[in-house]
Amino acid sequence: MSAASTRCDQTAAWTALRVQLEKTGNEFDLRKAFKNRPERFDDFSQAAPHLFADLSKNLIDAPTEILLLELARQCGLERHRDAMFAGEHINSTENRAVMHFLLRNPPPAQKGRAQEATEKIADELSRVHETLAAMLAYAEQVRADDAITDIVNIGIGGSDLGPQMAVLALEEFRLPGKRLHFVSNVDGHELAGVLAQLKPENTLFLIASKTFTTTETMTNALSAKHWFGAQGGKDIARHFAALTTNVAAAGEFGISTTFGFWDWVGGRYSLWSVIGLPLAIAIGAQGFREFLAGAHAMDEHFRSTPLERNLPVRLGLLDVWYRNFHGFTSRCIAPYSSALRRLPAYLQQLEMESNGKRVGVDGQALPYATAPVLWGEPGTNGQHAYFQMLHQGTDVVPVEFVAVKKAGHSLPGHHGKLLANVLAQAQALMEGKSDAGGHKHFPGNRPSTFLLLEELTPASLGALIALQEHRVFVSGAIWGINSFDQWGVELGKVLARDIEARLATGDDTGLDGSTSGLLRKIISG
Ligand code: F6P
Repeated sequence: MSAASTRCDQTAAWTALRVQLEKTGNEFDLRKAFKNRPERFDDFSQAAPHLFADLSKNLIDAPTEILLLELARQCGLERHRDAMFAGEHINSTENRAVMHFLLRNPPPAQKGRAQEATEKIADELSRVHETLAAMLAYAEQVRADDAITDIVNIGIGGSDLGPQMAVLALEEFRLPGKRLHFVSNVDGHELAGVLAQLKPENTLFLIASKTFTTTETMTNALSAKHWFGAQGGKDIARHFAALTTNVAAAGEFGISTTFGFWDWVGGRYSLWSVIGLPLAIAIGAQGFREFLAGAHAMDEHFRSTPLERNLPVRLGLLDVWYRNFHGFTSRCIAPYSSALRRLPAYLQQLEMESNGKRVGVDGQALPYATAPVLWGEPGTNGQHAYFQMLHQGTDVVPVEFVAVKKAGHSLPGHHGKLLANVLAQAQALMEGKSDAGGHKHFPGNRPSTFLLLEELTPASLGALIALQEHRVFVSGAIWGINSFDQWGVELGKVLARDIEARLATGDDTGLDGSTSGLLRKIISG
């Protein structure tokens, strides 16, 4: 969002939306809305690349959606989107372009779109494809190498959540004989537990870190290197590879097999870069290219579909409607697919690290709310844990269901039950059930979105993730924040370095009473 854009709460559309909510919104009833307009499902559902989305069970009517689209226009959403695709430095606090979409762009020769690209983008695109080809060739080499049975990704945040989520999601496409492990936490139990299963001659460590400075990753990488040497491992070049923008630091660390990427790829948007190497090893070069193509199809949808039928735009605007007008503080992600079990964790970083900001692009405090809390577990497990609160609690939590039409297994009786449950939960949230007794009363009228994939494939997963990236972009653009920096993670890192030294010396000078008390408790014999 350029500093010149009108702040969302100062637009005419924002005021009109307030009026609209007072007029109808507070009494808006989904059950009545469906009765009054049988076409409601068609009005508020749509196909998008590789998936189908039903938005009809949301607290929204046609006039509200028109106003939300108007809000998007008045906030300059299209201009901001085009600025990203043009490679402008929209990450203003770090003075960087935001071009993760380029990582899934076909090579220029394959496609007319190159004409649109500036020369700078065309150059970057050539580099992207050179690196992709090298990374995929390496992935194929590892796949063909029977001696390598275990691949350990050491990384955290975007260097862990994306590849881990995707490898689990596409388990069905994984090459048998290759086990993938993910170590992120500095808690040594995690690395120790993985190392106990490994032999150095059969192991490939991938050290994944955009900066190659992150404490957790460097600590784990160093311990892995020591373990490798202590176990008699010698050939670091064969058993360690680094995935990083900081190839020099990887070299200093002693790793010569490196795959690079660029500062215009944010950590939480880096799954499409060499950070995706674990996925490429798991599903192969062809599968990885399909994954990129699925995401690219969603990029094109976002870039060129009119706002009214543009799914990331519709979802992002709904997010704004719920957060700023209804005051809902969280969104529950409910993937009815155990393969997608890490999707909520992945989306937490995507949404909350991107849009968990309290100031606008100009650094001034904002008078309205931004990112909701995201949380969730796969269905049907969540039903037996916190769905009680979704149905009968005092807070309304919009739920985003993700379901897959075709199962990837052949066990009879399972998939029908799974799909019946996801449909039933969305239905129950909306319909509710009257009971005079109170305890068994379900108020209903609780909103949900339903995303339906035909099958969970590399392409549909790519499209689903790109959809989520762009919807986060949309709400961030409306809120006028920089969705691509993450200054909020810095303070804790600095303090941890100071406290680590104090743990060794016992010095608590200048600390607050609680931290000092806890420090003394921890170091007391
Ligand atoms: O601390 C937050 C963060 O910078 C994330 O944005 C990032 O994904 C993660 O740390 C890991 O960073 P890196 O890939 O540089 O190790």
